[in-house]
Amino acid sequence: MAKPVDPANSSPSSPTTEIPYTAVPGQREASAQRRQSYPYRFPRDHRLLGGKFTVAENARRLLRFFYFERRLMQSLGAWTLSIPEFEVKLETGRHIFYHADAARAFRERLTEQEMRPRDIDGFRDAEIDRFIEELLSAANAPELLAGVHQVLGRALATAYRHHIDDTDPITDTPTIRCLRRILADYEPMLSWADAAVVAYVEGGIEESPLAVWRWHLQRLLVSIGGVTGADPKGAAPTPLRSEARPFARGTVPLRDVRFDTFKNTGDYEVADGQERYPKESYEALRLRFIRTQRDEVDAIEAFGTFIWDIRFKDFQAEYDLARITWDEARHTEIGHRALQAAGYDPFELRNRLTGSTCRGPMDPAFAMAEINLFGEVGVLKTINNLIDAASDRNDELLRHVSDFIRSDERTHVRKGGHIIKVMTDLNARDLELRTRELFTECLVSLGAVRKDMDVFTVSREDIEHLVGE
Ligand SMILES: [Fe+2]
Ligand SMILES: [Fe+2]
Repeated sequence: MAKPVDPANSSPSSPTTEIPYTAVPGQREASAQRRQSYPYRFPRDHRLLGGKFTVAENARRLLRFFYFERRLMQSLGAWTLSIPEFEVKLETGRHIFYHADAARAFRERLTEQEMRPRDIDGFRDAEIDRFIEELLSAANAPELLAGVHQVLGRALATAYRHHIDDTDPITDTPTIRCLRRILADYEPMLSWADAAVVAYVEGGIEESPLAVWRWHLQRLLVSIGGVTGADPKGAAPTPLRSEARPFARGTVPLRDVRFDTFKNTGDYEVADGQERYPKESYEALRLRFIRTQRDEVDAIEAFGTFIWDIRFKDFQAEYDLARITWDEARHTEIGHRALQAAGYDPFELRNRLTGSTCRGPMDPAFAMAEINLFGEVGVLKTINNLIDAASDRNDELLRHVSDFIRSDERTHVRKGGHIIKVMTDLNARDLELRTRELFTECLVSLGAVRKDMDVFTVSREDIEHLVGE
């Protein structure tokens, strides 16, 4: 037992590093006595008090993590149009949301670490931006995956694990929990990316340019002190691609060789050159619905691109767009699998590129108005009847998938209002009119609408039918 310290003997001019233990006679003995009558042996908690970071240092590091995640969400969004391979485009739609959700979790934790949302959202870092611009300057999708996942993703996962080990496991448990949950998304994401790069290489993509690119980006990351900014800095590699040519996102939707695409009409029957079923028959509506879902691979492109185009305007809008992008990746998967379950090889059905071709180079406010106010609202106009018809016919495949899709699309329409407000100050009427004018122009140029149809602008219903979601 420590001896009580006599305050009279400790000099005030030499501060002691030990805080004195001061007993009140009898209390410790009494406590030992009470302990004896406590029968439970609960599991021991072996965590030790103490960690490497102050709150300020914790916040400095978490803010960089937040910024990297936000920039990754935006960066993958910028590439959605330009990834040709179906599987990679889908998976990227999912990854956009993983990064968005990691950013959201860091943002929330930062508000508990003495930071205001305004300052978190307003944070920029020129060195990180330079790294991101270079990563975006990938020559093709395999290079994008190598940079995003194999260089930056891996470095972030390592930094998160180190942070878990280094921070105080008792005072800073919320940060540890936050990091562990983010890593639960990272593990499958990074191992998928490794396997995807192997698939590219086995399919004929040259391996050494990928290795050169990885090494280049690794050195660039080292030059800014790594993910945390606290590692020893090395010299930056030269030259940088992004300095020779600043990154600009693609505007043309790309598809892999398995797809047969069309953009000269919005109508599947016209594209096919024949009708499979009588126009308004249940069978025709059913196949059109499932095809449209598979063709929502273009909605991954739309919403992903919007994140890039409105970057830094409003975190909630970016986050909602990222979530919608993931949902659209799911709709695409649902469509692909439902086509298979209906007996088709999904690639035998021509893929509609009409909408994405028009939206690709467009101002995001009008592209968003089309896909959200016309497309998604349009889906909701007809989906109730479709679900009822499927139920009446015992068509469980269609009933099941459209039930979930309806709930997603209702959610998208609900989130759309705020997103559009972030994109434009136009009132609803002017926004709709301008959107119709722009789509008329584009549809005419694609040959999807004939000038001699004697319309100045296509109607809302035409756009719903020809472009859709
Ligand atoms: Fe959708
Ligand atoms: Fe949607």
